[in-house]
Amino acid sequence: MSGDDRVFLLTGASSGIGAASARLLASEGWRLVLAARSLDRLEALAAELGGSERAVAVECDVTDWADQQAAVTVALEQFGRIDAAWANAGFGGQRSFLADTIEHWREMVLTNVYGAALTIRATMPALKDSRGRLLLTGSVAGRRAIPGSLYSATKHAVHALGESARQELDGTGVRVTVIAPGMVDTPFFEKVPLDEPLRAEDVARAVLFAVSQPPHVDVNEILVRPTAQP
Ligand SMILES: NC(=O)c1ccc[n+]([C@@H]2O[C@H](COP(=O)([O-])OP(=O)(O)OC[C@H]3O[C@@H](n4cnc5c(N)ncnc54)[C@H](OP(=O)(O)O)[C@@H]3O)[C@@H](O)[C@H]2O)c1
Repeated sequence: MSGDDRVFLLTGASSGIGAASARLLASEGWRLVLAARSLDRLEALAAELGGSERAVAVECDVTDWADQQAAVTVALEQFGRIDAAWANAGFGGQRSFLADTIEHWREMVLTNVYGAALTIRATMPALKDSRGRLLLTGSVAGRRAIPGSLYSATKHAVHALGESARQELDGTGVRVTVIAPGMVDTPFFEKVPLDEPLRAEDVARAVLFAVSQPPHVDVNEILVRPTAQP
């Protein structure tokens, strides 16, 4: 299959790491299914990436099962296959169990954990058909506990989802990668608390590396930090 035929579905495509990765993947010949809640931003990005032959925008709240199924349906109707699916949508919170509202906590857990699990569930049949790739966005905060951080706990769960999915998919030809960034300068932060954070494009290159390997190579995790991150 040539690069121009492969299809990549990602959530959290409207901003930050997802949008930068969509741009890099498109430049490498991938067709994109761009999912998030901000349809206007997705449509602008899809137009930038070449329009409906190359990229489609799908309004999708990852906490909504019908939305997730609809995104897969759009991918299959528009492009006929899914070669890579990436559960990337997510957001953070403050570092204290006394901060943030409990409603914020609920949405964060539902988005980061339940939403990622729904993306796995919705895309798994198509990925088995294509012997494709599943990606999840974890975090350095998913590898070590951050003080007072429920967000860190959600990302530990994402890393566990990745390993659980990898074990279930073993023998199917589907490969599973958890992308675990350190601090990246995106709208995730009001102001990123680091002099020289990663840029979204730095993470995009890690994603491209993972999906550029031959079929017998399964890159299970890429942890990438800024050179100076305490
Ligand atoms: N920035 C960092 O330092 C960093 C480090 C490690 C891991 N991460 C992870 O990287 C991922 C991307 O974050 P980012 O840094 O690129 O931040 P971002 O620029 O704020 O992007 C977050 C994306 O998630 C989407 N999203 C949020 N809730 C959603 C929902 N319910 N349904 C669908 N989409 C939803 C947003 O789109 P809409 O608002 O349009 O829905 C947006 O596209 C997240 O999982 C984050 O936890 C970030």
